[in-house]
Amino acid sequence: MIKVAIILGSTRPNRNGKAVAHWVYELSKDRGDATFELIDLMDFDLPLLDEPVSPMLGQYTKPHTKRWAETIASFDAYIFVTPEYNHSIPGALKNAIDFLYKEWNNKSAGFVGYGAVGAVRAVEHLRLVMGELQVADVKAQVALSLITDFENYHVFKPAPYHQGILNQMLDQVIGWANALQQLRTEKAVEMHT
Ligand SMILES: Cc1cc2nc3c(=O)[nH]c(=O)nc-3n(C[C@H](O)[C@H](O)[C@H](O)COP(=O)(O)O)c2cc1C
Repeated sequence: MIKVAIILGSTRPNRNGKAVAHWVYELSKDRGDATFELIDLMDFDLPLLDEPVSPMLGQYTKPHTKRWAETIASFDAYIFVTPEYNHSIPGALKNAIDFLYKEWNNKSAGFVGYGAVGAVRAVEHLRLVMGELQVADVKAQVALSLITDFENYHVFKPAPYHQGILNQMLDQVIGWANALQQLRTEKAVEMHT
């Protein structure tokens, strides 16, 4: 069964992201074609990248990196829940992504953005990052508006149509995670021979 991580990309106190990530989880968890887990960056307490060699080499030295690597490696796909900060993703999310390399490879990803215009600019940046990490990012994308999907920019009340788009995105993410399974298996065998 495909394992999907819903990664909450905001670490701010009082963040709107928490309600959004829980909404994604609640609407996903009963699907029969994958399992879902909420991954909150706050729980990993990652400092600014402090590994002495490039993550591409996978020679992690710090306990926080090893824990983060084990967690990310254990999933087949990711749903990134991201706000838009200055037309891009939060630094905390970029930093967490940068910590690792091979753990992301040959997985699939979808995006749930929220901001004044659905965080579409942030998600476009994130798609560029995914390319470098060899992550297959799907087309369907949830774009939540801070103005119409939140009351007073804070109380999350998503319009019902987002649910359909979320399901479409999950179909695509799970489909691609399944399609890439053989590649992940081959790479795992290579690493152990
Ligand atoms: C540092 C910062 C920069 C922001 N820049 C943008 C932006 O460029 N575009 C946008 O739509 N919203 C922007 N916002 C508003 C955020 O989308 C909004 O505050 C959102 O709730 C942030 O997510 P969070 O509460 O989960 O951290 C910004 C907010 C912060 C804190």
